[in-house]
Amino acid sequence: MTQHRSLTGITTSGTPHLGNYVGAIKPALAASQDPAAEAYYFLADYHALVKCFEPERLHQSTLEIAATWLALGLDTSRAVFYRQSDIPEIPELTWLLTCMTAKGLMNRSHAYKAAVQANESAGEDPDFGLSMGLFNYPILMSADILMFNATHVPVGRDQAQHLEMARDIAQRFNHHYGEHFVLPEAVIDAQVATLPGQDGRKMSKSYDNTIPLWLPEKQLRKQIMRIVTNSQEPGEPKDPDSANVYAIYAAFATPEQRAAMRAAFADGIAWGEVKQQLFELINAELAEPRARYQELLASPAIIETELQAGAARARAYARPFMQRLRSAVGIGSLA
Ligand code: TRP
Repeated sequence: MTQHRSLTGITTSGTPHLGNYVGAIKPALAASQDPAAEAYYFLADYHALVKCFEPERLHQSTLEIAATWLALGLDTSRAVFYRQSDIPEIPELTWLLTCMTAKGLMNRSHAYKAAVQANESAGEDPDFGLSMGLFNYPILMSADILMFNATHVPVGRDQAQHLEMARDIAQRFNHHYGEHFVLPEAVIDAQVATLPGQDGRKMSKSYDNTIPLWLPEKQLRKQIMRIVTNSQEPGEPKDPDSANVYAIYAAFATPEQRAAMRAAFADGIAWGEVKQQLFELINAELAEPRARYQELLASPAIIETELQAGAARARAYARPFMQRLRSAVGIGSLA
């Protein structure tokens, strides 16, 4: 068994934004450099189906997110890079896990409870508009992770509960059918776990506060200038720790740059100047991969070839493992 296998997925339901980059992609790319660790990265298109009912959009998002990882330099000769739906063993495992998952565990899901609560406050039926896909989401995510016996899962803080659930489900399966699954650990970078959006809430498509990752330079600057600040004047000392624009800056800056920016806040730097420096910092980091990204978007066949090669490698692990799991639960050939 491998000592360290890192795995993470990105849901293909939108255009990649700075929050995805800082919270998931960048730490994952860094982890994939570690020669002592194996890295599995995938496009979670089955997860996207839970909330995205526009085929065109789901398809385009898959293309954009795949191009993003490749443009940012994912080394696919090392990392296993694949599309979830190319691995039929994942939905197969999902069913085995579903039958080992207590319904009560799913009832406690934050995402599900929040949706029920929103319905209740709106005076609707508690289950109004909720699909079984949403309810079962954590089981599918557990299958993603357990299928490859990942030991480490870099995710945003909002996903911590899903990792707890994956461990619970794995434990129950192991207890009943024997030791098949490694218990995965969430890896949450305390420094940059969730990036705030323009309005200060978590940068998320659902809050409509995202800054797309691959905006052309001019538009990127414009979006950064829209980050909400308070009405303090230039010259007034400012508090970096309550400033959303600083939190975003910190996610991209080196420790030295952070210290210099904190000093500038104490000296009363103008908000416009903070934003200009933030723009320059982000743009310097993204300019080169942005050009590669545009090239890849124009050649989807290159991306598809990468994904097929990745799927073959992923299935080389998943297929025999699934066979073993089938036999562990009592399913298989009678001959
Ligand atoms: N649920 C994750 C998110 O919304 C995406 C995801 C799906 C994932 N499967 C995963 C992340 C497995 C880590 C491991 O961000």
